Amino acid sequence: MRYLDFLRTVHERLAPKAYLEIGVRNGNSLALASCRAVGIDPAFAIHAELDGEVALFRTTSDEYFSRPEPLAATRGQRFELCFIDGLHLFEFALRDFIFAERHSSARGVIVFDDVLPRNVAEAARERHTHQWTGDVFGVLQVLERYRPDLLVVPLDTEPTGLLAVVGLDPESTVLVDHFEEILAEFRRPDPQPVPGEILDRISVVAPGRFLDAGVLELLAGQPSDVSAAGLAPSLRPLVGERLGSGFLTRPGLTG
Ligand SMILES: C[S@@+](CC[C@H](N)C(=O)[O-])C[C@H]1O[C@@H](n2cnc3c(N)ncnc32)[C@H](O)[C@@H]1O
Repeated sequence: MRYLDFLRTVHERLAPKAYLEIGVRNGNSLALASCRAVGIDPAFAIHAELDGEVALFRTTSDEYFSRPEPLAATRGQRFELCFIDGLHLFEFALRDFIFAERHSSARGVIVFDDVLPRNVAEAARERHTHQWTGDVFGVLQVLERYRPDLLVVPLDTEPTGLLAVVGLDPESTVLVDHFEEILAEFRRPDPQPVPGEILDRISVVAPGRFLDAGVLELLAGQPSDVSAAGLAPSLRPLVGERLGSGFLTRPGLTG
């Protein structure tokens, strides 16, 4: 499944009240939103026809989230779907996640692009390939280690994989508290040590299986003020049953 087809289905089934996109470029993924949407990109050039109430910001995600009211553009509505597809460097993608989660609803979903590079060259921090994932794959390793409270699902989409994250906790400070320590371990010089599990797409989940697991319907049915703790008891068993728990514990990815 192509990543845009997956995202289209997530929009349909989740029906988010507000959407955040970091990295807009031509607007192809932003065009899938029909709700209030915020698009952030220092160099967008929109070709796609946009639906919904879209606020575009020609700036970096770091600058945007340094503003006093990042939710002003949605009139205070927390994000219920975020797509992180901006600068493909580990620390930028991780910061994007920290800010996106802080301004999301606990019933929201955050999706990263480019977490499954197909070769080491594509994963280089110093870009030298046409298709480029950079070292965004590192966020998968970090979230598994530092945020076991989250459900982190790598998805076998084309061309370079997606990562769906649910069970969000906007109050969590774990990643901020450990940020320097995380950078010291996970921001590594090229050539990138991409685990074979990632290159070979072992233990990743077929996108259709995730879409049909009922996770999105469960989230969509939650009250808007549900907390992470309130959601966890219904989310965890559903995931164990429908997705299988194998992909949740992948020592090869965290080593
Ligand atoms: C891969 S493209 C996005 C593609 C788009 N999401 C889609 O699927 O059609 C990445 C975009 O990220 C933008 N970008 C680069 N650095 C950024 C940053 N610091 N903050 C936000 N966007 C950034 C680039 O200008 C580029 O347009």
